[in-house]
Amino acid sequence: MNRTRAPALSLRGIRKTYGSGAGEVRALDGVDLDLPPGSFVSVEGPSGCGKTTLLNLLGLLDVPSEGTVAWDGAPVGSLPERERARRRLTGVGFIFQRFYLLPTLTAEENVALPMRGADRKAADRTTRARALLDSVGLSGRRASRPHQLSGGEEQRVAIARALANEPGLLLADEPTGELDRANTESVLDLLVEAQHSTGSTLVLVTHNPAVARRANRHLTMADGRIVSDVREP
Ligand SMILES: Nc1ncnc2c1ncn2[C@@H]1O[C@H](COP(=O)(O)OP(=O)(O)O)[C@@H](O)[C@H]1O
Ligand SMILES: [Mg+2]
Repeated sequence: MNRTRAPALSLRGIRKTYGSGAGEVRALDGVDLDLPPGSFVSVEGPSGCGKTTLLNLLGLLDVPSEGTVAWDGAPVGSLPERERARRRLTGVGFIFQRFYLLPTLTAEENVALPMRGADRKAADRTTRARALLDSVGLSGRRASRPHQLSGGEEQRVAIARALANEPGLLLADEPTGELDRANTESVLDLLVEAQHSTGSTLVLVTHNPAVARRANRHLTMADGRIVSDVREP
């Protein structure tokens, strides 16, 4: 299986509302954004400003109320759910603040899980899951279950899992939000290394300015809009 090439992502005129009438919430309120393949972008902004909603649209977990999401220039909104699911599985790696490892599976089984839906033989899945755990410094914890791991270790397992199908797009939603400083550094190093070595696009939502500084483009959101977009020279 080949690594999925990073797609060029574009958002045009995006609005996303939840609920209706008096209870209506505008999570995104007019977002236009282009992310060339291989972008490394941070997203900052106060709680509730739409960061997670933006990630969910980029990663095909959700659809906008208005506007167009395109991968490589082709709108993805009208694709059948089956095709969207296939692209999510093989093309997108998600990393969440709360890790979301499956509690009954070992570290190795958690990492191997996304490969079951992709075209990969069982023996290859095991070999690759072990190599991925090695690469995040957890070769000794293959058989551990999430409750036996520290938060930093759980997040490293989650990163290995996100990389399992060699996605072109990595979406990390406050991945260091529950970690101490030492673990924040190591998790960040792993994400940056994954982005550099594979040329994937990495979108990193964070409240931590030191974390955001590692990116080479910096978006700030407020009230469902992108209010600042700064590229490093
Ligand atoms: N599934 C949902 N149903 C209703 N409202 C939602 C839902 N998801 C998000 N929201 C609302 O949309 C706004 C943006 O949320 P979110 O994208 O999660 O913000 P952030 O990640 O920046 O904290 C918030 O007001 C939030 O309460
Ligand atoms: Mg969020």
